Amino acid sequence: MKKAEIVVLPTLRNADSETIGLNAATQTFDLVGNATVADYYKGTHAVTSVEKCNACHDALGTTFHSGGYGGDVVVCRTCHVSSSGGSHLEMQSRGIDSYVHAIHKFPGV
Ligand code: HEC
Ligand code: HEC
Repeated sequence: MKKAEIVVLPTLRNADSETIGLNAATQTFDLVGNATVADYYKGTHAVTSVEKCNACHDALGTTFHSGGYGGDVVVCRTCHVSSSGGSHLEMQSRGIDSYVHAIHKFPGV
């Protein structure tokens, strides 16, 4: 193993104990060089544009998962990988890419 993806899923509750929607944070770390890696799943190497997703969604996963899952699709990939077998939503796999293409048509994108 040479690199690790570090994920922070924050939790904040209001006075009524309701979870507030927050952005998750992800960062690639180089275990050999002992340093963070710039632009690994970000910048010019981003897996997708979360701003484009959020033009429709505002935040993803903050309702059906938990409040701290917003603002970052790389965080979805830490669990939703194509090596996990599919189920009722998408037969191909539980990978976030499979989900996204199964759910949307994305005309003109
Ligand atoms: C043009 C608008 C639009 C864009 C852009 C968009 N989505 Fe969606 N998305 C939708 C709609 C509409 C649904 C269906 C919502 C429903 O059935 O409640 C949906 C559903 C989903 C779901 C299933 C959520 C659930 O509750 O089951 C996921 C996951 C998802 N989108 C991820 C993404 C990601 C990741 C991106 C960016 C790559 C993205 N979407 C971009 C409109 C959009
Ligand atoms: C900590 C692990 C983890 C993370 C991170 C994660 N998920 Fe999930 N997700 C799961 C598990 C476990 C399930 C339930 C089992 C399944 O259907 O794969 C699930 C279910 C779902 C479902 C419902 C699928 C269905 O069966 O109807 C959607 C949609 C989804 N996740 C989208 C996302 C999105 C979008 C993100 C990123 C914002 C995300 N997940 C991040 C673990 C995770």
